Amino acid sequence: MDKVIQLLGFSGSLRKGSYNTMLLNSLKELLPENVSLQIVSIADIPFYNGDLDLPDATERPQAVEAFRDAISKADALVIVSPEYNYSIPGALKNAIDWASRGEDSPILKKTVSLMGASNGMWGTVRMQMAFQPVFLTLGMRQVKPEVYVSKAQDKFDKEGKLIDEGTKKILIKNLLALKEAIEKQKTY
Ligand code: FNR
Repeated sequence: MDKVIQLLGFSGSLRKGSYNTMLLNSLKELLPENVSLQIVSIADIPFYNGDLDLPDATERPQAVEAFRDAISKADALVIVSPEYNYSIPGALKNAIDWASRGEDSPILKKTVSLMGASNGMWGTVRMQMAFQPVFLTLGMRQVKPEVYVSKAQDKFDKEGKLIDEGTKKILIKNLLALKEAIEKQKTY
């Protein structure tokens, strides 16, 4: 049997009723064959502070170590995030900043799917634009098709289940592209 490809997913929204977390959870039912998805929360990651980072500290905060460790074990990342003020939510940017530090940074050159949901018309397009320089500096490769979920309030039921068939289709395409990108990478 082929080795299972392991994805690590996290949401840029910390609130319980988050559409983005709903979107992330909905991926579990749409995964291609031989692909698994572990979901972690970034809620406990403290603000980046160089005094808590190496070499000035003996170890990084526990929530940071756990996050970095999960990233290093994953074949690729799935980041699902809202747009705050046309940009990346602070908590998410902060988590990425922690993951980017040091020669042992686990996030450098990772393959990534970026998705987002908003209750407006633009489905996080500006947040995704704001991510481009971050991906560039970290050598991260984003797979397509891009996923912009607009009018999120109409696309989930009361239990948080994704009910929009068009959105499901694009998610399936994106996850398949992610799988193919990882498989290609592994043959080199
Ligand atoms: C927002 N929202 C928002 N929406 C958008 O399309 N563009 C934006 O620039 C912003 N800015 C923004 C800033 C802040 C601080 C908040 C809290 C919200 C609205 C946002 O899309 C909406 O609240 C989503 O529902 C948030 O995602 P979750 O929490 O449902 O995943």
